[in-house]
Amino acid sequence: MLEPIPWNHVHTLVELGAGTGVFTQMIYDLVRPDCQVAVFEKEEEMRELLKREFCGFHMFSNALELKDSLSSIGADRVDCIVSGLPFANFSQADREKIIRQVRETLREDGLFITFQYSLQMKTMLEAAFDEVSISLVPWNIPPAFVYTCK
Ligand SMILES: C[S@@+](CC[C@H](N)C(=O)[O-])C[C@H]1O[C@@H](n2cnc3c(N)ncnc32)[C@H](O)[C@@H]1O
Repeated sequence: MLEPIPWNHVHTLVELGAGTGVFTQMIYDLVRPDCQVAVFEKEEEMRELLKREFCGFHMFSNALELKDSLSSIGADRVDCIVSGLPFANFSQADREKIIRQVRETLREDGLFITFQYSLQMKTMLEAAFDEVSISLVPWNIPPAFVYTCK
């Protein structure tokens, strides 16, 4: 998930659906010290744990409010968005709302990286981004697809 990120050139990064913070920890270890990081997690208990663990990262509750939340910290454009959001469980309207905001928020050469357990998001992501590459991670349980979108 994090392999394609050019860490030295990333000044603003967003994580959507951080959950237990597995990616957040790696992001914490790898980002430039001056990188602004915003993390979105809906579950309050998890968000509170993340807040305590990763001080300095901005915490928000709902990825559906991506643009407004980032505006509130003066980050209208970002270099990279990493997502663990379970798009398969969302309504089509919510999927579209999030992907539209992701596109509008990313810089011209920005990266959106997400994992899913199916190819259900392929058509939508290919319509939204110039380039989409998909790789299968067979050793994940269950095996997962990583979508890297430019
Ligand atoms: C697959 S899990 C997280 C995976 C994460 N990488 C981890 O290691 O735990 C997806 C997460 O997205 C969160 N989530 C679902 N809908 C959300 C939303 N609209 N905004 C922010 N987080 C959301 C869930 O609460 C859940 O923690």
